[in-house]
Amino acid sequence: MTIQRDSWGSKLGFIMAASGSAVGLGNLWKFPYITWENNGGAFVLVYLVAVMILGLPIMMGEIFVGRAAHLSGAPAYKKLGGLGWSKLGYLGAAAGGIILSYYMVIAGWSLYSFWQCLGWSLGGYDMPSSDAFGNFLSNGPLQIGLTLMFTLMNVGIVLRGVGRGIESATKIMMPILVLLMLYLVITAMFMPGRNDAFAMIFSVDFANMPAMGYLEAVGQAFFSLSLGLGAMVAYGSYMKKTDSITNSAIWVVSLDTLFALLACVAMFTIILSVPELKAQVSAGEVGTVGMLFITLPQLFYTQMQGGVVLAPLFFILVAFAALSSTLSLGEVVASMMIDRRGWSRKKAVLITSGVVFCGSIFAALSLGASQTLSQVTFRDVPVLGIIFSSKSGILGLLDHLAANWLLPIGGLGTTLFVGWFLKNDFILKELGVKNSNVVFNLWIWCLRIVAPAAIIALIIAVATGKDFS
Ligand code: TRP
Repeated sequence: MTIQRDSWGSKLGFIMAASGSAVGLGNLWKFPYITWENNGGAFVLVYLVAVMILGLPIMMGEIFVGRAAHLSGAPAYKKLGGLGWSKLGYLGAAAGGIILSYYMVIAGWSLYSFWQCLGWSLGGYDMPSSDAFGNFLSNGPLQIGLTLMFTLMNVGIVLRGVGRGIESATKIMMPILVLLMLYLVITAMFMPGRNDAFAMIFSVDFANMPAMGYLEAVGQAFFSLSLGLGAMVAYGSYMKKTDSITNSAIWVVSLDTLFALLACVAMFTIILSVPELKAQVSAGEVGTVGMLFITLPQLFYTQMQGGVVLAPLFFILVAFAALSSTLSLGEVVASMMIDRRGWSRKKAVLITSGVVFCGSIFAALSLGASQTLSQVTFRDVPVLGIIFSSKSGILGLLDHLAANWLLPIGGLGTTLFVGWFLKNDFILKELGVKNSNVVFNLWIWCLRIVAPAAIIALIIAVATGKDFS
């Protein structure tokens, strides 16, 4: 086995590394913007329910598989379930490659925002015009360059192996990120848009949510918690048998959800407090896609004590949050080639990253630089129209495919594997609990019935074009 089977230094080490994988662009960038697009309220509620009934049990399931097999990816499923189940590992690696290809592009934006904030901190802030972000997106060479920079950073770390590097780095960076986020939210709480923001995020009105919102909320729960492609199997495989799976999973899920909600509160408050921003976003002049990179500088430079120093720091932390997520994705993809083909780590990382980067080029050019790539859509094509909904552009299509289909289907596989295929006695013995244990029963019945039923029902509903509203 080429992978070093060492273990996390402590339970805290696992929690930090796993929440480093979970907390990323999914929380800071994606959750706020899709919540905005789905009109908040009902979407947030569906998201929270999905986190509880799908996210938490499936996270425990993935960690369980890794810890019990002491292996990651396809080999873990093969060891516990045989050759057939190892397909689940390969599906996961494919999904990981797809996500990486566009995630790198967005991650590159954080590097750009960092430079931009440095400039503002030194030379004074002036609010960018409404077409500034659009111009940035459609600058092809710049997009490719930023993506390449981020890809190289990721390669540099994955090459060395994930091991102690990530664990110790996340232990320092995550607490700083939490503190900065709290400071952001507290500052935002003094802005006039606060009440409107809370109303938008927490007052539930199902009539306001587009039908696609249900699938997107579930997909986002998988994406944000790093589930559905075996990343948590890998991280679980380094866990000590004495550490509680339930307890660790609850920590990771809570931290991740808290981050997503706080990011939403801060960003919505800023948009709804600044009339120019509100007008631009409501009129669709500023694509909501860039919300994180447009709204927060506004807060730093106009409202906040010390914002001049904190703005560049914040985007370093965003880049770091993204990096601790791309590491787990890169590891899943590379380790598949190491395990399956017996490649050296160096060869596996360089080749898989090269292939993923080729995909990134298409994603990077699909934000305006290339008309064809930016506008491609399957809206009116049979079957594909259902899968891809009304999304357009390579980046949007890949994101929709991976987050809303591949991850839930991968998660469904894990529920069936742990809930139905593995023997009860085996699970009880591995966990060291009795059949009458309440937490065990809640978990296993959720994996057996509730979670698979919810995923299958949702897939059928979407495939038959059901309109929920
Ligand atoms: N959870 C990360 C985020 O929210 C993205 C991510 C990292 C991921 N690793 C993953 C998503 C594995 C699915 C599976 O940004």
